[in-house]
Amino acid sequence: MIITRRTLLGAAAAIACAAAIPAFAAKPLTIGFSQVGAESEWRTANTASIKDAAKKAGVNLKFADAQQQQQNQVKAIRSFIAQRVDVIAFSPVVETGWETVLREAKNAKIPVILTDRAVKVSDPSLYVSFIGSDFVEEGRRAGRWLLDYAKKNGDKPLNIVELQGTTGAAPAIDRKNGFAEVIAANPKLKVIRSQTADFTRAKGKEVMEAFLKSEGKKINVLYAHNDDMAIGAIQAIEEAGLKPGKDIIIISIDGVKGAFEAMKAGKLNVTVECNPLLGPTLIQTAQDVVAGKPVPKRIVVNEGVFPAEVAAKELPNRKY
Ligand code: AHR
Repeated sequence: MIITRRTLLGAAAAIACAAAIPAFAAKPLTIGFSQVGAESEWRTANTASIKDAAKKAGVNLKFADAQQQQQNQVKAIRSFIAQRVDVIAFSPVVETGWETVLREAKNAKIPVILTDRAVKVSDPSLYVSFIGSDFVEEGRRAGRWLLDYAKKNGDKPLNIVELQGTTGAAPAIDRKNGFAEVIAANPKLKVIRSQTADFTRAKGKEVMEAFLKSEGKKINVLYAHNDDMAIGAIQAIEEAGLKPGKDIIIISIDGVKGAFEAMKAGKLNVTVECNPLLGPTLIQTAQDVVAGKPVPKRIVVNEGVFPAEVAAKELPNRKY
C-alpha cells in the first residue's frame, strides 16, 4: 500500500477516535466474596486487603460476612449464583460439607476461588484455585521452635496446653497435626489439654482460665493456633498471678501487630507468620480466570517465624 499524507491523517484520526471511545464495552468484573467473619486481628487485615485490592482494580466486590457460620456461607454463595457474578471467592469456615453448593456454582458456570482455607471435596474441579498458607507447615514451625527451646533449656519434661482454632476449620486441623508430628520427636513434650477457643480473644481467655483451674502450675507451655487466642490467654495467666512468657512459655500463629507488642512486652515467646494480605493475588487470579488464562491450582504464601528477640526491630515493618 502506498502511504500518503492523506492515509496517515486518516489513520491518526481513527486512532484518536478509538482512544476517545469510553471503555463501556468492558464491563467491570463482579466478584462475590464470602468471608469467615471478623473473629481475629488477622481476619480484619485479610478483609481490608481484599476490599482494597478490589477497589484499586476497579472490581465490583459483593462482600458477605458469614459470622463464622457455614450455613451463612452457603446462603451467600447461592445468592451470588442467583446474581450471576463473574467469580465466587470464599474462605471456608470449615473444611467439609461443600460438595452440593460448589456443584451448583459449577453447573451455573461460575468459577470458584478458595482463599485462606481449603475444602475437602471428592471432585477437585469444583474450584479453580486455592490461594493461602500451608497450615501444616505453620504447625511444624511452631513445633520446631519448641523442640529447639526444650533442647536449649536442659531438655526437661514440658507440659503443653493447646488452644485450637474453630472445630473443623482447616487451620485448626492442620496446625494441630503439624505441631504434633514434630514434637513427637521428643517424648518429654506432652500435650496435657487441648480444646477449641474458636480463634477469638474472649474464648482464648475463657478456655485458658479453665486450663489454669484444672492444671494449675503443671502447665509449662501454651500453644495457641492464633495470636488472638494467645492474647486472651495472656490476660488469664496474668489474672492467675503468673508471668506469661516466663512461667508459661507461649507459642502462637499469625504474626499480627498485637503479637509483636506482646513479644516486646516479654509476654509471648514466638509467633509463626500467616500472611493475611491475599487481596492482590485473589483479584489477579479472578481476572486471569475470566480472561481464560490458566491459573495455578494451588498458590502458597511465603512466611517466616518471629521469636521475641526480633520483635522490637520488626514491629515498625509489620503491615498488619
Ligand atoms: O484461616 C486463618 C486463621 O483464621 C488465622 O490464623 C486466624 O487468626 C483466623 O481467624
